Amino acid sequence: MHCVRKVTDDLYWVGANDHRLHLFENIHPIPQGVSYNSYLLLDKQTVLFDTIDWSSCRQLLENVEYLLGDRPLDVLVINHLEPDHGASMEEILIRWPKVKVIASAKCYMLMRQFGFHLDGHECVEVKEGDTATFGKHTVTFIAAPMVHWPEVLMTFDTTNGVLFAADAFGSFIALDGKLFNDEVNFDRDWIDEARRYYTNIVGKYGPQVQAVLKKAAGIVDQIKFICPLHGPVWRNDFGYLLDKYQHWATYTPEDKTVMIAYASMYGNTESAAQALAARLVEKGVKGVVVYDVSNTHVSTLISEAFRCSHIVLASVTYNLGIYPVMANFLHDMKALNLQNRTFAIMENGSWACKSGDLMQKFLDEELKGMTVLNERVSMASHLGEGKADELEALADALVDSLAGK
Ligand code: FEO
Repeated sequence: MHCVRKVTDDLYWVGANDHRLHLFENIHPIPQGVSYNSYLLLDKQTVLFDTIDWSSCRQLLENVEYLLGDRPLDVLVINHLEPDHGASMEEILIRWPKVKVIASAKCYMLMRQFGFHLDGHECVEVKEGDTATFGKHTVTFIAAPMVHWPEVLMTFDTTNGVLFAADAFGSFIALDGKLFNDEVNFDRDWIDEARRYYTNIVGKYGPQVQAVLKKAAGIVDQIKFICPLHGPVWRNDFGYLLDKYQHWATYTPEDKTVMIAYASMYGNTESAAQALAARLVEKGVKGVVVYDVSNTHVSTLISEAFRCSHIVLASVTYNLGIYPVMANFLHDMKALNLQNRTFAIMENGSWACKSGDLMQKFLDEELKGMTVLNERVSMASHLGEGKADELEALADALVDSLAGK
């Protein structure tokens, strides 16, 4: 059965929802699913903007064929070729052998690398500032390299103000009938997954996202709809979304609060982390969150690290090193370019306690713009009552730092 939604005059969402995929990019859990968005413009020419993941290709074809009726598909615009969008393009090329393809030069290179067969198709190469007219609608292309791959374009329809934004402004979570941002409670139900999507997929490319945000600022008064490749279509409240992106792209925390991430083998480091959380809350800190790195997916840890201003790392020593899952969190922070946070360290080791110095070294030498508080809680096996002063000093240091002292 077809499943389409009208976005605005002449334009339809023809994508699909995926509740079967457990791991996005085979790494990030998506317990609430994901949508692959594709859009069909019915102008004098018919134009498909991006395709979808191969797993949902049948739904895309059913949707497109339903809306086209007896008409052919004239144009296929590929803004982003990553296979969660590009995988179905070969099927579109086969079904509509006369479809014209519009994409960037790098996108054509990737199409060939992925083995797509373009022979016989008119292939138009476009770059920043080029335009195309399909009848009533004229679009202009905006280069968005590394948001999230190097070939990415955004396409702006100057006739109706629709911005096809590729991966930008997208989110995990399947749409399940809803399409627009005002058909969901985004700030309550979606923002955490939108942040987890952004920070883990595009987080590394903050400077490139900032460049695109600058371009978007130049046309923001003309934008009526933001159509991303995942998640809701935005038709109002752009300020909310742009503000979130501004924070994420500049590695600016959203919340002045403390995230405690602990790595504990037998519960002793966990107990110390919980004691610190309780002291912080008693001292008036709002929004303290505590995560066990062993049972929290690193994509969630990363998302929370982007949100929070202060991060406490509490780790046992393991094989004379940092506990592996904590080390993985640190390496992911580096990979995703997280910057400008304040850290505090709690370490544990029954002999040869090393994790604190190693975490400090990693923060100082491998990450950018990180501050590590001088106060540290150091445990031998567990946090005994004799260490209460150390815990108190660390809590006080965090409170002072949060207050900007
Ligand atoms: Fe949703 Fe970069 O692909």
